[in-house]
Amino acid sequence: MCGIFAYLNYRVTRTRREIYETLVNGLLRLEYRGYDSAGVAVDGPKKTDTDNNKNTTYIFKTKGKVKALDEELYKKDSLDLDEELNIHFGIAHTRWATHGEPSSVNSHPHRSNKENDFVVVHNGIITNYKELKAYLINKGYEFESETDTEVIPKLTKYVYDNRENDSITFSTLVERVIQQLEGAFALVFKSRHFPSEAVSTRRGSPLLIGVRSEQELTTDNIPIQYNANLKDGVEEKNSHNRPNDSNAINSVGDGQPVEYYFASDASAIIEHTNKVLYLEDNDLAVVTGGKLSIHRLSHEVGENPVRAIQTLQMELQQIMKGNFDAFMQKEIFEQPESVFNTMRGRICFDTNTVILGGLKDHLKEIKRCRRLIVIGCGTSYHAAVATRQILEELTELSVMVELASDFLDRNTPVFRDDVCFFISQSGETADTLMALRYCKGQGALTVGITNTVGSSICRETDCGVHINAGPEIGVASTKAYTSQFVALTMFGLMMSEDRLSLQQRRLEIIEGFRVLPDLIRKVLALDQKIKLIADELYEQKSLLVMGRGFHYATCLEGALKIKEITYMHSEGILAGELKHGPLALIDKDMPVIMIIMRDACYTKCQNALQQVTARSGRPIILCCQDDPEISQMAYHTIELPHTVDCLQGILSVIPLQLLSFHLAVLRGYDVDFPRNLAKSVTVE
Ligand code: G6P
Repeated sequence: MCGIFAYLNYRVTRTRREIYETLVNGLLRLEYRGYDSAGVAVDGPKKTDTDNNKNTTYIFKTKGKVKALDEELYKKDSLDLDEELNIHFGIAHTRWATHGEPSSVNSHPHRSNKENDFVVVHNGIITNYKELKAYLINKGYEFESETDTEVIPKLTKYVYDNRENDSITFSTLVERVIQQLEGAFALVFKSRHFPSEAVSTRRGSPLLIGVRSEQELTTDNIPIQYNANLKDGVEEKNSHNRPNDSNAINSVGDGQPVEYYFASDASAIIEHTNKVLYLEDNDLAVVTGGKLSIHRLSHEVGENPVRAIQTLQMELQQIMKGNFDAFMQKEIFEQPESVFNTMRGRICFDTNTVILGGLKDHLKEIKRCRRLIVIGCGTSYHAAVATRQILEELTELSVMVELASDFLDRNTPVFRDDVCFFISQSGETADTLMALRYCKGQGALTVGITNTVGSSICRETDCGVHINAGPEIGVASTKAYTSQFVALTMFGLMMSEDRLSLQQRRLEIIEGFRVLPDLIRKVLALDQKIKLIADELYEQKSLLVMGRGFHYATCLEGALKIKEITYMHSEGILAGELKHGPLALIDKDMPVIMIIMRDACYTKCQNALQQVTARSGRPIILCCQDDPEISQMAYHTIELPHTVDCLQGILSVIPLQLLSFHLAVLRGYDVDFPRNLAKSVTVE
């Protein structure tokens, strides 16, 4: 939804210009999460004559993309860009509006008062903000934005102003504030009363911290400190920020030069360090005197008393555009590799076996279940639609596929002997996450299929599969879809390993997987032909995509890609429903794409084709190579290599991904940043 980035340098000298560059670059990496406005809060010059030598905080905010903020930062001539700062903490944010229109005043950081005593960046949503706002207004606080977030810094100041004594720490202050908050959040706080200290926390929204230090980190684990003394309010001075003695040697920082990077995801951190720590819900990460410690707001029985510092394997070039014009285009062309990475180490082509390490311990339980419920949103939901038939066939179970929001709206009955799959590229989609918590509450086994290691869905499910497609930056999901498709089908193969009657079928699918990367390359080679078709279509208003059976999901997903990035009206239509309504739309001017492959639905699709051409429709047909019967009825054909029916959908979706890309470029739109959308939707 929004992107948080913050940077703290402790005894590492950086010019103000370098600090700005770090903050802005961090935001640029996160821009895919939201991009209607951006802002930073940094230290200003120290006030010497007034205000007891206190630090000042400057806030810069602009409407529009991060580039606009970048320009704004260098306009301000009151700050010396070459000034060297040995210790500094800056926070930054890129926004995707939920409460209040995109504008500079609604963008983050939000502040407590005109003097910027407390400033906050927030990702998520505060559901009880109206009550808090009314309370604070009653206490004389003046609000300047329409956002839910603004209550947070104001409340912080309120708690600070009403503190019992002066020894209150920044972290205690924040703890008290978040005890009052309902909803989902990742937050980073900065205060001129606590210069160079950082406090961050999360509940339901992702946040991680990168650590860069010249010194070898003394440990890869940071012990958690449980805050037993919270109830009585003020802690003993300093005790809060220092783990108890037995743990003290294990904390990070310890007075040595160190840099910390706080971010909503790893893509903003990886260029600085590969040592990261993922915060969990109700963790409070505090940096004081250059030292990072983790505090727990609620003590859960049996929880691990440490947070591990992990080493990220991701490389920067993985998240750069390379030679492509857009991330989406790059990601479409990465699919031979990304599907291979999904299969790597899991399918053994010599022995024709499939093992998903994250599921193998739960296989018995899954095999005993009553039904599979596969839940997702958007493209991830389409991956469930795409694989439903093969999952039914290979698991011999009843398979329900569900849109997370609708599933929740219906309070769908879920039982202890159900197995619920949650499909999510980001692993953070709020509706999917809520559905997961709901199913857990009903006692079902929960399985995550995600692309983001350490994400909420990944951590909260009982078991799961990482699709390993690599970071997906383009808002329109492409390679994640094909990898989700592969992962779900592999699950079907794993479930059917001991079913004699299914052995032949399994072998043909495994063979299909073996050649899949090569076949994808052949489809990608059709790019120029697809571009020519886009040249003819780009001024149209509507585009229908029709098919059935294994290709119904391709129609839904193709139409979604088209509407997401070209803003054309597009509908995925089940060909079996043609005569029940959509046929009324067909005439010589309505562009129609039909998917007709040589599978069990071939004859029925031919009938649909007849119905379309009989109404003067001029279909563009995705079909198998060498199918003269079909090609002679087509206005244009896109001929695809043939593979096993249940994998053909991986090949048939790619021309539609490419088509939507070319249409968007021809229509002059920003492919990676479609209007009104965000990559990671962390609100319901
Ligand atoms: C948003 C994105 C879609 C995506 C959907 C689900 O709506 O714009 O592209 O398919 O969320 O995201 P997830 O990360 O859960 O797969």
